[in-house]
Amino acid sequence: MNKTQLIEAIDNLRKEKNAVIMAHYYQTGDIQDIADVIGDSLALAQKAAQTKADIIVLCGVHFMGETAKIICPDKKVLVPDLNAGCSLADSCPADEFEHFIKQHPNHTVVSYVNTSAAVKALTDVVVTSTNARKIVEMLPKDEKIIFGPDRNLGNYINSVTGRNMVLWNGACHVHEQFSVEKLIELKKQYPKAKVLAHPECKSVVLKLADIVGSTQALLDFATKSDEQQFLVATESGILHEMQKCNPTKEFIPVPPADSTCACNECNFMRLNTLEKLYVCLRDESNEIVVDKETAKKALKPIVRMLEMSK
Ligand code: 13P
Ligand code: SF4
Repeated sequence: MNKTQLIEAIDNLRKEKNAVIMAHYYQTGDIQDIADVIGDSLALAQKAAQTKADIIVLCGVHFMGETAKIICPDKKVLVPDLNAGCSLADSCPADEFEHFIKQHPNHTVVSYVNTSAAVKALTDVVVTSTNARKIVEMLPKDEKIIFGPDRNLGNYINSVTGRNMVLWNGACHVHEQFSVEKLIELKKQYPKAKVLAHPECKSVVLKLADIVGSTQALLDFATKSDEQQFLVATESGILHEMQKCNPTKEFIPVPPADSTCACNECNFMRLNTLEKLYVCLRDESNEIVVDKETAKKALKPIVRMLEMSK
């Protein structure tokens, strides 16, 4: 099948099966273009909670599919490539995190959504990069908090809220890769450009940013801004929607260190393709399964997040 036929076939299947296609901003442009919903991690969770579809095809990584399945246990949740994992989620194995929690009694456990269902089951409230600051600020000032697994996001939240959360030492291999030297060079080359950075980046990169935020926040900032040029320090998939919403503005990806590539792509996110999306919808394959007991425990902190994000 050529691309046009593939798009038509996916379109027919989604109508026939009452399926909804949801895509994260880090997916390839062709997947974002065919999706019914595109968004950041928070938007995907919120839309999953509202959908009337029987099948959710979650074009993103495994933890996003798990989150949708936990929210919608009666729906079939499919991910085009089940190997689409996440180095940040992998940096926090549930048994080690449980031990860490035991070492810090009387702490509220706040976990970033980039975690396995088993880690969410150990958590009091889940957050995403969109609502992390707001949710932490909603907790009483004297509350002792464990934050996992992203040390950069945790450090950033500590710095803007004045909290002293105990941090799990995890990170995303994509966002930690941005080169400060190349960013400084780009700032010289584009002196008027605004720097947009995701809070999973290292603090040396965040210090150079005009705005630090989730993919949605960065997109909104660029769209509202009167500036014409933007240096983007997050996974380069977001440039597709940024360019689509702002055809006259220029978006320049910040390159990773130790690479000749201009863009920084998440190898896990890029495992999903249009072809795999078609096959999984046709065969209803690659279904996300979450053990019932774990799902029940993991649902509570996700619902708490959705409530606190209203
Ligand atoms: P957001 O979708 O919350 O911006 O998160 C970025 C990310 O790394 C998702 O894997
Ligand atoms: Fe995980 Fe990083 Fe890829 Fe996001 S970009 S899915 S945090 S590895």
